Amino acid sequence: MQARFMTLPDIRRAAKQILPTSVWNFGAGGAETETTLRRNRRALQRLAIRQHVLVDVRHVDLTTTFLGMTLPMPIAIAPMGGLVLFHPQGDCEMVRGAGPTGTLAVVSGVTGWPVEEVAKEASGPLLFQLYHFGPRSWVQELLARVEASGYRGVCLTVDVQVYGRRERDLRQRFDPRAAMGNLAPNPRPPDPTYPARLTWDDVAWLREQLRVPFGLKGIMTAEDARRAVDAGVQIVWVSNHGGRQLDHAQATIDVLPEIVEAVDGRAEIVIDGGFSRGTDVIKALALGAKLVALGRTILWGLAAAGAAGVHRTLELLREEMTTTLALCGQTSVRHLTPDLIRRVD
Ligand SMILES: Cc1cc2nc3c(=O)[nH]c(=O)nc-3n(C[C@H](O)[C@H](O)[C@H](O)COP(=O)(O)O)c2cc1C
Repeated sequence: MQARFMTLPDIRRAAKQILPTSVWNFGAGGAETETTLRRNRRALQRLAIRQHVLVDVRHVDLTTTFLGMTLPMPIAIAPMGGLVLFHPQGDCEMVRGAGPTGTLAVVSGVTGWPVEEVAKEASGPLLFQLYHFGPRSWVQELLARVEASGYRGVCLTVDVQVYGRRERDLRQRFDPRAAMGNLAPNPRPPDPTYPARLTWDDVAWLREQLRVPFGLKGIMTAEDARRAVDAGVQIVWVSNHGGRQLDHAQATIDVLPEIVEAVDGRAEIVIDGGFSRGTDVIKALALGAKLVALGRTILWGLAAAGAAGVHRTLELLREEMTTTLALCGQTSVRHLTPDLIRRVD
């Protein structure tokens, strides 16, 4: 594997070559004009890292803590549905690839496999991403299974009130749900339109149901972040769904500082959206995120070479983060401060 993929772009290229165009577009694309999708990347590119020299950087520490766990790296695998389109073993293969590095994997609420089966394949820690795709009784039953299977926490995704208009798919008449068909064993959820009615009352109810930590994924304003921590949420996940939902939203890295201020240490902050390099990750950590989740970057590893491709992607990210820290004179991801970052237009 190492000889085949020496850089992350090699892996992306291999995935693009292997995948049918419709599946590549489903993965790579965003909503409508794809302004949010592009903005996530552009906002990261506008940030520069300041370098400090003549620091002993023989030992660079990537370990961090999250919800009381010690993690070997400050990154996580973002939840992605439809993984069976990218690899026949989908979610199971993804967590197999994450295991050897101990990377936290977040299993999608529309995983094609029963939560128990995915958990059995994982040797590293897991979180579960919940879609409230049915009445409360359905959610209760699902969460009981999630907790019994050893997931360390649950995040409710709140930015899919309705499904975004993904024009690449529409144009090609590609329906991912139909394409998944019977490829994976999980039955379809009872009511995919249910999330449109969710409110803060549901957040309070969900928190009461769970013994494991609970979070919200899809927070993009300081007001909502404050409301979330006031409701007792332990994870505030800054996300615009990788540009797949609301078009013309802000870039996640641009809203991070105001959310860090609003949360004020009362919850763990996760961010995703356009992170594809070790340098990107270091920028978000310096600006106050605890963990950076990556979606597509790791998806391409799965598509290119299954679990081995996921593993290789994570290794390359580790190498990039380690090199970046050494070159900017930092010895630990836990001591980064916003002063490391400058905006350059
Ligand atoms: C193919 C695909 C499927 C996704 N499915 C889900 C999902 O089931 N639940 C969810 O909360 N987010 C889902 N997301 C959004 C990711 O969790 C994450 O927010 C986003 O991909 C991060 O941006 P990045 O891909 O640029 O790293 C999906 C993203 C992709 C690319």
